[in-house]
Amino acid sequence: MKIAFVGKGGSGKTTLSALFIRHLAAAGRPVIAVDADINQHLGPALGLTDDQAAGLPSLGARLPEIKEYLRGDNPLIGSAEEMIKTTPPGRGSRLLRIVEENPVYAACARPIALDEGSVRLLATGAFTEEDLGVACYHSKVGAVELLLNHLIDGQDEYVVTDMTAGSDSFASGLFTRFDLTFLVAEPTRKGISVYRQYKEYARDFGVTLRVVGNKVQRPDDLAFLRREVGDDLLTTFGQSDWVRRLEQGAEPALSLLEPANRSTLEELKAAADAAFGLRDPRKYTAQAVHFHLRNAESWGNAKVGRDLAEQVDPEFVLGLDGATADRGTAGLGAARA
Ligand SMILES: Nc1ncnc2c1ncn2[C@@H]1O[C@H](COP(=O)(O)OP(=O)(O)OP(=O)(O)O)[C@@H](O)[C@H]1O
Ligand SMILES: [Mg+2]
Repeated sequence: MKIAFVGKGGSGKTTLSALFIRHLAAAGRPVIAVDADINQHLGPALGLTDDQAAGLPSLGARLPEIKEYLRGDNPLIGSAEEMIKTTPPGRGSRLLRIVEENPVYAACARPIALDEGSVRLLATGAFTEEDLGVACYHSKVGAVELLLNHLIDGQDEYVVTDMTAGSDSFASGLFTRFDLTFLVAEPTRKGISVYRQYKEYARDFGVTLRVVGNKVQRPDDLAFLRREVGDDLLTTFGQSDWVRRLEQGAEPALSLLEPANRSTLEELKAAADAAFGLRDPRKYTAQAVHFHLRNAESWGNAKVGRDLAEQVDPEFVLGLDGATADRGTAGLGAARA
């Protein structure tokens, strides 16, 4: 299950992503955590020191090798240079699974030992000025889109992505790559305006968006969210002393989280699990192709110097074609060589 946390800056995306990841790990579920936010905070939120977090490999910096691996023997993709962030997989492409060893994880993912169990963390790397909204091909989150488009994940395994709600995710198809998107909103007008904007973008693509109220303190807060968000409101997470203690440097056990907030995490998990029934591999693949063609036309063809529409394998549907599951054994470096 591919899950995203989006929302306004400071709304609690990282806090809730990290807690959700820990809750899933506690339930024994395999999890890949992805830090795709402008502010790279997920590592520390999962217990890494700042130095450890700063030493995480960056997906953005490894894109050429990732592309080289993923293209595999796909005859429609002549080289890694011809592959843009939206180039969809086809027959011969290498696909990723949540639970496996592969050269992409070996090079880019780091295991994080939690009390609840171990998860893998992937990080896009810190954003710089030139990443933001300028040129699509610079976009660091492009690596995440590429990985999600090549990932086959099952019902009880999760990718949880901490993401911004900013324009970067709408510059391509990233916002459509999730089975469920949690929009974290504080009970304020600004929190709600980000929700409205996201919903507007998402509507045409059938994105499943649920609002998670955060830092909800009083009945008035809940009433405000209900009034502004209506049925899109899934649940709320309260203002938490546990989170505050975490922020102060303590390492409180997940089992000590306020029971109401722990129940909220369980509600998120139930919603994620329920989203499985809504999956449509054909639609998912068709949307990947749609965004690829859009990117190809707007900048990809010019950048690469060929018609990238030819990269689309019309016979291929992600998740329905087991025959393409070539796991490959060559390392990323070897693939490049
Ligand atoms: N439910 C909560 N109770 C108490 N404090 C909270 C809660 N949720 C978040 N916070 C605090 O609010 C601040 C912002 O939270 P967080 O970093 O998770 O937000 P974010 O949306 O990821 O922000 P950014 O956009 O900067 O990445 C942090 O100091 C965090 O500890
Ligand atoms: Mg954050």
